[in-house]
Amino acid sequence: MLNSERPRLDWQLLIEDIANEVSALKSKGKVADYIPELGNVDLDAFGITVQLLNGQRYSTGDYQTNFSVQSISKVFSLTKAFSILKDELWSRVGKEPSGNPFNSLVQLEHENGKPRNPFINAGAIVVADCIMTNTTDSLAMIIDFIRELSDNKTVSIDQDMLQSEKSFGHRNAALAHFMKSYNNIGSEVDAVLDFYFGHCSVAMNCEDIARAFLFLANHGIDPISKKRYLTASQAKRINALLLTCGTYDAAGDFAFRVGMPGKSGVGGGIAAIIPGLLSICVWSPGLDKYGNSLAGVKALELFTTKTGISIF
Ligand code: DON
Repeated sequence: MLNSERPRLDWQLLIEDIANEVSALKSKGKVADYIPELGNVDLDAFGITVQLLNGQRYSTGDYQTNFSVQSISKVFSLTKAFSILKDELWSRVGKEPSGNPFNSLVQLEHENGKPRNPFINAGAIVVADCIMTNTTDSLAMIIDFIRELSDNKTVSIDQDMLQSEKSFGHRNAALAHFMKSYNNIGSEVDAVLDFYFGHCSVAMNCEDIARAFLFLANHGIDPISKKRYLTASQAKRINALLLTCGTYDAAGDFAFRVGMPGKSGVGGGIAAIIPGLLSICVWSPGLDKYGNSLAGVKALELFTTKTGISIF
């Protein structure tokens, strides 16, 4: 259907309908507890924000409640690393779906310490290392970057979450040490982990995250500030990775059901985009067995089904 033939959408009514429809699913998911602090969240919470390129924004539910961004932050670190290292980055980290859980160790040995993609934990730790070897005070830099993208100067690290991540991050430490043995980590492992845990522990709300993803829906340029963060070609490539790897071993199912490039986090957030039109963030803390928000994925599936808008 051509855009001009599309009936005018009532975005607000649409997301309110979706919030009602997925309501029963909220309690069916399971809050992630391998980082204990993540368990301190209301399973009944649900928020959604749709941010259009023209600046209009529609939200409902708990869209102004902060939650832990977790792996959604890997998109911000990848954006920084890609803009600094350009295509050199791909000598350190691959671009293939892993077909494995986000914190899996098994593939790394077969593939000589080079992670499959930047969104599994191993890949994001390598990306963190790439940033650290090219910037000073990387954590402050990435927080400033996220504040700028989200147009919210108050975005900060949740210190309780950070302590919890550090205390229970043994798997990530194992991944980092293992990759260091293959010379794919240059900095000290503890320093890289501090940076990685730091950006995962950032707290944001649906409005912040939808706003921060808008440049990916607009060829790398924030349509409101007009600032360019990536070339059009780089933005295209990050979107391709979001589609194929953004939801881990459920990326095929997510593409099949939702049809948008998107990134999930174990805090229950999912951010997604439709190039040339919008970004969207949904939050519901109950997760499915892959670590993606159960009601969140359903909400995005309803969004593309009801509107007929997807990338396909
Ligand atoms: O390293 C971890 O396990 C977490 N900081 C991030 C994992 C995550 O969000 C996976 N997403 N679904």
